[in-house]
Amino acid sequence: MDYLEIEGSKKLNGTITVSGAKNAALPLLTCTLLGKTSVHIDNVPNVADVKTLLQLLENLGAKQSFENNQVTINTSDVNSTCANYDIVRKMRASILTLGPLLARFGHCEVSLPGGCAIGQRPIDLHLKALEQMGALIEIRQGYVIAKAPKSLNGANIVFDKITVTGSENIIMAAALANGITTLSNVAKEPEVVQLCKVLNKGGAIIKGIGTDELEIQGSGGKLLELNDITVIPDRIEAGTYLCAGAITNSDITLKNVASEHLKAVISKLTCMGYKIEKDKNSISIKSSSKILPIDIKTVEYPGFPTDMQAQFMALCTQANGTSVIDERLFENRFMHVSELLRMGADIRLSSHTATVYGPTKLTGADVMATDLRASSALVLAALAAKGKTKIHRIYHLDRGYENLEGKLSMLGASIKRLSE
Ligand code: UD1
Repeated sequence: MDYLEIEGSKKLNGTITVSGAKNAALPLLTCTLLGKTSVHIDNVPNVADVKTLLQLLENLGAKQSFENNQVTINTSDVNSTCANYDIVRKMRASILTLGPLLARFGHCEVSLPGGCAIGQRPIDLHLKALEQMGALIEIRQGYVIAKAPKSLNGANIVFDKITVTGSENIIMAAALANGITTLSNVAKEPEVVQLCKVLNKGGAIIKGIGTDELEIQGSGGKLLELNDITVIPDRIEAGTYLCAGAITNSDITLKNVASEHLKAVISKLTCMGYKIEKDKNSISIKSSSKILPIDIKTVEYPGFPTDMQAQFMALCTQANGTSVIDERLFENRFMHVSELLRMGADIRLSSHTATVYGPTKLTGADVMATDLRASSALVLAALAAKGKTKIHRIYHLDRGYENLEGKLSMLGASIKRLSE
């Protein structure tokens, strides 16, 4: 198993390029199940989650190639409707095949993803919405067995809670359904918006894109004519590297960034005293003369993203004062706290709130990655720590960060990937 060895306390400088967004690429790949012909997708991040999903789509019968961040995929020969446990257990987002498979074939069998390190993560809202569209759903032997004997029909759906992949699944199902579907309390994340735009261009008529109310005129079962797609930049990867600049109090620049997707993150960095400069596709962070503490509450987009909570917690250990971080989306998303404590952080947990006392001098240690974003928080802490940190179980990082050690090395970090 690989681990990362980082020698900390080094200033960073230079420019790196941000990859395409993993969380945009995943629904874009599954939406090709709704397409008639081959689709070319550019700026696809070369990360484990993308490869896992491509493997799943290939198992269903899709033809695909993935080279130089470009995917060409043709789903016209898909002949299986079963997303099996062996793949789904590797990646929860495999559930994104549910809506498209059911809409296209009228039935499918998708393994239930189960919980994960950050919480229970049910999919009840996905299932309830599909039932409202006429699906018959039962859970048998760990699988969602879904049938739509009379095909899926438009419905008026109000999500009880904002769900990103839930919104995406239902948007994809509605795009091929009969009639009009209205969706309220829909997720407005940029990744959801890109999916809507792609479906819209492909023949589904979607009104209200970018708002939390959508009206989708389905194609009545007719496959869509999807055009070439370029995946939007990864706002979470960009945010993580901004935090790398911040925690080492360095000046760095990121290219291929959509700074309009990073408003909440930029606002917090500015409150901490960092100077942020934005250009057309790039963003720079400049060191802060005094790093100030902040309060954060994770909420749905355009609020502060839960996927940046762990990284900011690492950063707050270097702030002059007490920061309070309130995690509102997931019940167990503080797994990184105990590892940060092992590096010398002073953090108290109480229910869904973490209080971070700073500044603390972090020191290198052996630490364990527990989930994707928790792992990146450990990398950030290691960059600031005195001495050597070894981060184990980095397969979590490989799920969502393309060439992390290469990019950080380019900024001057001392980071090596080694085998246990
Ligand atoms: C997506 C992102 C993930 C991010 C999360 C929140 C992808 C592939 N993953 O995950 O990186 O952290 O959004 O921004 O895009 N919920 C229910 N019932 C449901 C669905 C969700 O109760 O049927 C709850 C969840 O437990 C959670 C909240 O709703 O508390 C938000 O979850 P959701 O937006 O669905 O997260 P994901 O789409 O799984």
